[in-house]
Amino acid sequence: MHLRINTLLNQPPTGEKVEVAGWIRTRRDTGGFSFLEVNDGSCLANIQVIADKDLVNYEQDIKRLTTGCSVRIEGTLQASPAKGQAVELLAGRVEVVGWADPETYPLQKKRHSFEFLREITHLRPRTNALGAVARVRSRLSFAVHTFFQKRGFIQVHTPIITTSDCEGAGEMFQVSTTRPHGGAGKAEAAEEFFGRRAGLTVSGQLQAEVYALAMGDVYTFGPTFRAENSNTSRHLAEFWMIEPEMAFCDLRGNMRLAEEMLKYCLTDVMDNCAEDMELFDRFIEKGLLEKLRGVTGQDFAHITYTEAVERLQGCGKTFEFAVQWGIDLQSEHERYLSEEVYKRPLIVTDYPAAIKPFYMRVNDDGKTVAAMDILVPGIGEIVGGSQREERYDVLEARMRAAGIDPAEYSWYLDLRRYGSVPHAGFGLGFERLVQFVTGMANIREVIPFPRTPGFAPC
Ligand code: 4AD
Ligand code: MG
Repeated sequence: MHLRINTLLNQPPTGEKVEVAGWIRTRRDTGGFSFLEVNDGSCLANIQVIADKDLVNYEQDIKRLTTGCSVRIEGTLQASPAKGQAVELLAGRVEVVGWADPETYPLQKKRHSFEFLREITHLRPRTNALGAVARVRSRLSFAVHTFFQKRGFIQVHTPIITTSDCEGAGEMFQVSTTRPHGGAGKAEAAEEFFGRRAGLTVSGQLQAEVYALAMGDVYTFGPTFRAENSNTSRHLAEFWMIEPEMAFCDLRGNMRLAEEMLKYCLTDVMDNCAEDMELFDRFIEKGLLEKLRGVTGQDFAHITYTEAVERLQGCGKTFEFAVQWGIDLQSEHERYLSEEVYKRPLIVTDYPAAIKPFYMRVNDDGKTVAAMDILVPGIGEIVGGSQREERYDVLEARMRAAGIDPAEYSWYLDLRRYGSVPHAGFGLGFERLVQFVTGMANIREVIPFPRTPGFAPC
């Protein structure tokens, strides 16, 4: 059985026989032997393998090894004289498992642009940067679950196919059988697979609320889909969202949870992915670790939407989108506030009711809702959440005002009819979190298989 390279590199050089399996990064020949750099994806570092010319297949195989070939190597772990590594492997047997034709293998030993790597999504995890992203993403996912599970939150698997459009922004992908919707051949409701129009979920929130109103603290963490035609560095058509929902909780408790959760995840990943994080700090975003330590080490700033508008209007800066009370804050406004004014994460609360979805709780002023967005430097909005409208009549009126038929959401209204309680929750865009943590400029690099308008290669 082979061992993972990350385990081996942390072992003392016992002189024991071990086996590794991975892909060749480079081969370098000297007089009597070859150095092979082998990587198996378990960590950023390669293990250096010394393959002596006396090995039976040295001329026939080992000297033909090129970047990308897969190998299985048995050898003894010994102290390495080279600097930067404690141990190396003295090969006793090198088996070539799969060749990689150097004429056509696209990942040669030079730096490739991320744009180029996107064209070979199926090979890019073999690079240092994308491998590091994959490991950090995995660790962050683990940290999210650990954070909630430690606090007694119950995970709910909310549906991927749904008939409710939570955000009501008209971005739902339709789910249908082969018969097309609309135009000629328009499918009658009765012919729909689910008996009515269905789509891919834009958020698991409404269903998470169902469970929160039975079980208290719950969370859902799954894929969400938005047919947003925005080709930006922060939008995907398929992304993952973490959505906690808490019964007997108001906006204040919601904000506290979000801040604690973000800090927990950042600390966890700095503690457990140190080598990968150093790579990002050196090559992707200089000062990244300092930025993240700054976030964990101080309180988030708080400001209301109304104060934010005043601040933006009074700052003397000209924005592409003019600022006035009632507009939805644009990314340029959000970034200005978090990057230039506060220089740290910022929670903006109490947005105008007119620009937020029907489910957010109306404040006493009748004009604003108990909403909160968390804005972070470099990204803008990373979290969107709110206290939910728990009053039946107010909710029903908000639905009608938003053009939603309350009859279609009778199950959601039932939660307010029977044992309603104040409750709140938020959605954290997982890719935006990975982007913030790794410093990657484009969101397409932090999800294994990005989906954007016109792009879904495999
Ligand atoms: O602000 P949003 O739309 O909030 C909701 O969906 C609520 N139902 C969440 C809740 O209260 N349970 O989305 C939440 C977060 C955003 O702050 C952003 O981080 C991310 O999801 N997000 C996207 N990430 C990548 N690509 C997109 N197209 C995204 N749209 C939203
Ligand atoms: Mg939002």
